[in-house]
Amino acid sequence: MRILVINGPNLNMLGKRAPEHYGGQTLESIERTLSQKAQELGCELAFFQSNHEGEIIDFIQKETPASAGILINPGALTHYGYSLHDALVDSGLPVVEVHLSNIYAREHWRRQSVIADVTIGQVTGFKAENYSLGLIALTNYIRSQSK
Ligand code: DQA
Repeated sequence: MRILVINGPNLNMLGKRAPEHYGGQTLESIERTLSQKAQELGCELAFFQSNHEGEIIDFIQKETPASAGILINPGALTHYGYSLHDALVDSGLPVVEVHLSNIYAREHWRRQSVIADVTIGQVTGFKAENYSLGLIALTNYIRSQSK
């Protein structure tokens, strides 16, 4: 079972970026922890981060045929990324949306996700742990669908 783990704009800056919202871990460290979790869960991960919406869409289009699901933190694209939304729909893959911060407890404009209706669920507000929680939920879902 191959899962795409996608991080959007500015998430390459984790570790230095607003730790009160995003915690102190770097993206590299989050990906390392997630790789360990993936071994436990028996899945393979393909990581991708970009600051450019089009590059994320290219990655989704290219990798979809070989993949079973998508775990994504779209960064600020969450709130206005309609092309990303459409690429996720077109993939036909189950999608879990994760956020390090609780997007519902911050500025008003962060409370809307244009991605949410494409997802099987959202995990928001538990900082780095969200990625593991999201991966567990996604792999459980995929397994339940293939029974
Ligand atoms: C974020 C929340 C977004 O509003 C923000 O633009 C980010 C990170 C999060 O993980 O909490 O870049 O997706």
